Amino acid sequence: MSALQLDRIPHHVAVIMDGNGRWAEARGMSRSEGHRAGVDAVRKVVRAADALGIEWLTLYAFSSENWNRPKDEVATLMQLPEEYFEEELPEAIERGTRILSIGNHDRLPPGTRRTLEKAIERTQDGPKMRLVFALSYGGRGEIVEAARRLLRDHEQGRIDPESLDEKTFAAYLDEPDMPDVDLLIRTGGESRISNFLLWKAAYAEILISDRLWPDFERKDLEQAICDYQKRERRYGLTSAQVRSGSK
Ligand code: IPE
Ligand code: IPE
Ligand code: MG
Repeated sequence: MSALQLDRIPHHVAVIMDGNGRWAEARGMSRSEGHRAGVDAVRKVVRAADALGIEWLTLYAFSSENWNRPKDEVATLMQLPEEYFEEELPEAIERGTRILSIGNHDRLPPGTRRTLEKAIERTQDGPKMRLVFALSYGGRGEIVEAARRLLRDHEQGRIDPESLDEKTFAAYLDEPDMPDVDLLIRTGGESRISNFLLWKAAYAEILISDRLWPDFERKDLEQAICDYQKRERRYGLTSAQVRSGSK
């Protein structure tokens, strides 16, 4: 691995944590055990991201489509955030991490929702890394929800359709302060976005890792960032324009 440039760490890293089921199946374990192993990987990667100075880390923990999985698997997946926050909250507070969440919380079981809300509240003054859990999240759903809020504001005369632009619209998304994604990592080898951050990942650099999520660790995150640092982000410009620094 070439050296990581600590002054060029991506501001916002988002991760599609995929491969828990395959990891478990390969070991003759249940899918739920795979998800438990996935939580250990979350712990490690969160610590590593904090140590690297990543400002925003968004983790895709459960998609709107994942509600269609078998009941017992969904039940485990809803139980895990409770266990995770129970154990990790004191350390998050100490580290100054601010926990946030995007997604449709109305669908979460009351216990899961309460723990999540407590974690968000107890860390709200955290000045360091923003750790966002996408839980019961879908990118299309988020955009529709934003449109609904916007229409309500329009009804109340608070928004003029002529003044609507991308920035105004983005303020209606689940977490308005969240910056665009710089680096989007998907573990488990599949090359798809699976309804994650459709708006904020518009110009993300995408990195697919074959590693299954429970096996993903600090060195894999560092490798992903190294690869990111070798990319040229062109935003529609030519390479020559980018190199000459024109906007
Ligand atoms: C990702 O692992 C976790 C969630 C989707 C909740 P999977 O459970 O999708 O694992 P695979 O893709 O079946 O291996
Ligand atoms: C995406 O993984 C969702 C999460 C990692 C939470 P999936 O396993 O649900 O995605 P697909 O079904 O393979 O696209
Ligand atoms: Mg999967």
